[in-house]
Amino acid sequence: MTQPDPQPRDRTATALRTRELGGIGEADAGSQMTLVGWVHRRRDLGGLYFVDLRDRSGIIQVSLGPDVLDDQALEVVRSLGSEDVIRIEGEIILRPEEARNPEMATGAVEVRARGIERLNRAETPAIPVFRGPEDELPSEKLRLRHRHLDLRRAELQQNLRLRHRLILAVRNYFDALGFVEVETPILTKPTPEGARDYLVPSRVHPGEFYALPQSPQIYKQILMTAGFDRYLQIARCFRDEDLRADRQPEFTQIDLEAAFVDSDDILEWVEGLMVDLAQVAGIEAVPPFHRMGWQESMERYGSDRPDLRWELEIDDWTDLLVTADSNILKGAVEKGGRIRGLRIVDGARLSRREVEAIEEEAKKAGAPGLLWAKRSADGGSGPLSRWMEEAHWEGTGAGEGDLLLVAAGPDRVTSPALSAARGAVIDTMELPKVREHAWLWVLDFPLFEEEDGALYANHHPFVLPHPEDRERLESDPLSVRGIAYDLVYNGSELGSGSLRIHDPSLQRTVLGILGLEPEEIDRKFGFLLEALASGAPPHGGIALGMDRMVKDFLGVGSLRDVIAFPKTTAARALYEGAPTEATPEALAELRLKAETS
Ligand code: AMO
Repeated sequence: MTQPDPQPRDRTATALRTRELGGIGEADAGSQMTLVGWVHRRRDLGGLYFVDLRDRSGIIQVSLGPDVLDDQALEVVRSLGSEDVIRIEGEIILRPEEARNPEMATGAVEVRARGIERLNRAETPAIPVFRGPEDELPSEKLRLRHRHLDLRRAELQQNLRLRHRLILAVRNYFDALGFVEVETPILTKPTPEGARDYLVPSRVHPGEFYALPQSPQIYKQILMTAGFDRYLQIARCFRDEDLRADRQPEFTQIDLEAAFVDSDDILEWVEGLMVDLAQVAGIEAVPPFHRMGWQESMERYGSDRPDLRWELEIDDWTDLLVTADSNILKGAVEKGGRIRGLRIVDGARLSRREVEAIEEEAKKAGAPGLLWAKRSADGGSGPLSRWMEEAHWEGTGAGEGDLLLVAAGPDRVTSPALSAARGAVIDTMELPKVREHAWLWVLDFPLFEEEDGALYANHHPFVLPHPEDRERLESDPLSVRGIAYDLVYNGSELGSGSLRIHDPSLQRTVLGILGLEPEEIDRKFGFLLEALASGAPPHGGIALGMDRMVKDFLGVGSLRDVIAFPKTTAARALYEGAPTEATPEALAELRLKAETS
């Protein structure tokens, strides 16, 4: 007699369980299973008990009754607490029609328990393990302090799983294109990405320090000179900078570099990658992505990462409004500034308080204020309106019911102010989106920027100057564009890259323009220059912020929702409690003294 085929072992089976809970359904009715998980909820219906058993894949209802279980087992059931870890043996049965729960993936069935074993007790959870969207979350501080409980929450589990699947898709995509993943050092030398370095003291070499990498930038360039041709790394980076919701002191980049390329190669590879990743994340990415020069982006949106889900644009009204009888406006233009602004259709419906709140955002972005005017049938209102003659209203295109927000001054003040005002108008008026997924390449960033009279590299000092601008490198460095590109998704900078300088003497020139003495250039970058002088191929690359990407694809508010153990905005790890003071012995061994204030 032939034996029936044994049930194939489920891929989630282990020595302790038949399978994960999530996918159990009608087709399993009649099967005997051993299942494990956490007690999500327990109910007592007069001697018949129901336990919602939870694992990472889902929740299933277990019924435990005196008809099947003996006294000892019932005693275990009675003493079950929230988050106890249990193992159930039982049969999957179809629930009667009226007892089915359409909200639950496993809601058509339940497990009728034949046996129960408590694998471990749980103390009363320090924070409630989140049960549903209607339940209020404990404060973030508490959730970070008790992160293992917070991570039991389905939302965080899903976020980290999506992150895993995205990383997998990245590796598959680049592997198919012949990229090779190479790990670069974590204990290294300062990297010039514009933030402060985290320093690690060397015990063997007292008084000397390693720096943690702000990015693998120099190493990936060296790998190009070493003939690797196409490099990839899912790289951990460390930056000691002021933190915001979209920054963490340690974060992950999808870092790539390739030799013998033009910027189009990189842009097209990344677009292809985004198509794959968008599919994994359930969003939309249709290449080619819109491309815009940095200059144009600043002109039209006041930002190098405009959110193109909305169409509102900045206008230049310098020639028009300089004729208004206003010393503020005239004065700004006399000093070389411009008068720019936003025309907000139907914006007159905003209250004075709302307009002032928008102005507040512009002030936070560094402007002294905004001038505004509402156009109405009987003229206008608002501080700007007293100078507005018919020709001025007409020139701006403002109709009745519209609002004008105006900033006068140098572009470096008015651009961020109007960009902030644009964002605030969009939020306050809840303006309709023109698209759900706005992808954009911002190209040709300036090579340098100026602060307090000193020149700084806009991205980093290895960006290739635009060939058309190269002759102005020394005479007018601020006018020189780099072959640099940023990927922007819904107003968030997902990535940044460039073609690189592969000629060592050009690299020396650029470092010199940044104020480095020849001796300093050799000390800091000698190893890179040596590599460039050894027959470096033309090369370029990009780094995409992995954490930021997962956050933006999910549409969640903070990087902390997509990182298992994130730091707070004060750069503290609340779970394990870091940073901590070093013991006097550890300091003595490192020959360091700690000052705490
Ligand atoms: P950049 O400094 O622009 O470029 O970084 C690339 C991308 O990394 C992400 N990112 C961050 N994410 C979270 N927390 C942070 N503190 C943080 N800082 C940056 C952003 C950003 O776009 N070596 C160059 C890349 C290159 O030229 O190839 C670099 O690191 O999404």
